[in-house]
Amino acid sequence: MASILGFGGYAPERVMTNDDWAALIDTSDEWITTRTGIKKRHFASDDEATVDLAGKASLVALEDAGLTSEDIDEIIVATDTPEAYTPDTASFLQHYLGCREVPAYDLGGSGCAGFVQALDVARARLLLEPKRILVVGVELISRLMSWEDRSFCVLFGDAAGAVVVARDGGAAELVHVVAGTDGSQTDILTLKTGGTRHPFNAESLASGAFNHLDMDGKRVFREAVHRMSQAVVDVTGHIGKGVADVDLVIPHQANKRIIDAVQQKMGVDDSRVFVNVHDYGNTGSATVPFALWEALGKGRISEGDLVVLTAFGAGFHWAAAALQF
Ligand code: UT7
Repeated sequence: MASILGFGGYAPERVMTNDDWAALIDTSDEWITTRTGIKKRHFASDDEATVDLAGKASLVALEDAGLTSEDIDEIIVATDTPEAYTPDTASFLQHYLGCREVPAYDLGGSGCAGFVQALDVARARLLLEPKRILVVGVELISRLMSWEDRSFCVLFGDAAGAVVVARDGGAAELVHVVAGTDGSQTDILTLKTGGTRHPFNAESLASGAFNHLDMDGKRVFREAVHRMSQAVVDVTGHIGKGVADVDLVIPHQANKRIIDAVQQKMGVDDSRVFVNVHDYGNTGSATVPFALWEALGKGRISEGDLVVLTAFGAGFHWAAAALQF
């Protein structure tokens, strides 16, 4: 009932290496590499904002699908780093692409699980009527994060990934999606300032709280491993398969150590896991669609393959999708 017609991705040209970070703050290539596996990340140029990244990835996905922006019937954008506070990035994207006056909306604030959750929404929307839905995961974190908080800034990068989903006719069937939330853990990864509980004010500006992300790295790490691996078991179980039947797992690219731990927990070897965190860092909701696009480009996926996307993010949210190529 849901099928992916086209895949796209975009990473900005500007590259920031670990040594570039070490020249700015008290860190080192050695620390970043051993703790995260990240070697470099891409940062948007000064004249790029979220919609530019989303738009470029979308155009790649549209071309891959053999479609134009006129063919799109709905737009869903997953992002935590929107073009503006309001309206949503999807509105900007509708205009950027020159789409018809179609429904467009964001799935905002769902962290790095946002894109897989958006796929689930697209799947449900397709049950109501046949459509071509553009689903985007995009993040321009470098513009909004603190460049002084070393425990946070070295982890992230900017990118976008996109797919076009319809009822049928694509290279991959979106067979099933599982998703969940544990809202008792909102505190382990949160940027509090800017909402109604802690509005922007002179105090938050002066203290730096306006761009300070509270992250309990060790708790996030533990939850991520548990939730991402369990989501793979759940989504494959739902379609009558097991982890052993999965040809390629594409996990959220937050940290190589998290990916290794997920892999170990599931008993999956390197040949069945796609990793690109060393080149791009954590690009939030963009990691999964971008990695999916890159895995296809690198010939890591063949016809007949069962591919599972799995992600976690602030919330605490998690989601996994099974794709049959
Ligand atoms: O999409 C979700 C996003 N979040 C995540 O994925 C985070 C998940 N958690 C993690 O990936 C890891 O917890 C981190 C990579 C964030 C941290 O790794 P860790 O092994 O948990 O390190 P730690 O928090 O125990 O920090 C160890 C030390 C501390 O120094 P002291 O207190 O032991 O003297 C930090 O101050 O490393 C220090 N440190 C750094 N040193 C050099 C923290 N950041 C840096 C840095 N460079 N960039």
